[in-house]
Amino acid sequence: MSSPIIVALDLPSGSAALDLATRVAPHVGAFKVGKELFVSEGPDLVRRLRQTGAAVFLDLKFHDIPNTVAKAVAAAVRLDVQMLTVHCSGGSAMMRAAETAAQETAASLGRKPPLVLGVTVLTSMDSAALAELGGEPDVTRQVERLARLAADSGLRGLVCSPLEITTLRSILPSTMQLVTPGIRTGSEKSDDQKRTLGPSEAMAAGASWLVVGRPIYAAADPIEAARRIHAASVEGR
Ligand code: C5P
Repeated sequence: MSSPIIVALDLPSGSAALDLATRVAPHVGAFKVGKELFVSEGPDLVRRLRQTGAAVFLDLKFHDIPNTVAKAVAAAVRLDVQMLTVHCSGGSAMMRAAETAAQETAASLGRKPPLVLGVTVLTSMDSAALAELGGEPDVTRQVERLARLAADSGLRGLVCSPLEITTLRSILPSTMQLVTPGIRTGSEKSDDQKRTLGPSEAMAAGASWLVVGRPIYAAADPIEAARRIHAASVEGR
């Protein structure tokens, strides 16, 4: 069975990222390239990851006018990534433009379109931070509102915190893919992730994919950590 684990390559260099990716590949469904690695290593790192046969999640969280986001999404499709992110707060026109660009560019290349994932409210934001922006100050209500807007705008997936999975599953179409960071097994040192779930609990709650960084890349034995987290995720399905 294919693995729902996405390893976050939050590493300082392209060579460290490629080395880890090659070692843990048998237990992993995709690798996430974020802003730091992409800005320092560029699209060439994505090409090199794709050459290993790995699926790539390009997590650049686009947020701009619809035309600009559509062009960035089209470029990501040409780079042959399998998942990418946009901010839902960019609005319905922006999300529709992103999804249309993904579908049309993929069709023109004879490829499967990447999953365009909406990011609702950043988990670093609380109600005080939302209130500063002048809109809905309740984090849960704002997450639900943006999640519905994303679904209505044609997005097929969302990034969400582990503690949002159950609520989102109850209000979204069952085909919506939920990609969930904040996964911890209990054997790591405590860190900045406060709202966490184990891999099997997150899958049981309805996650489609689990984004895992430090529990794998900072483990004493990353291959064994990836194997265990993959096994636990399959149990929870
Ligand atoms: O090391 P850790 O498992 O916490 O890594 C989680 C990854 O998911 C990081 O790349 C982090 O930036 C990302 N992420 C997150 N929370 C969000 C969105 C993305 O932890 N709400």
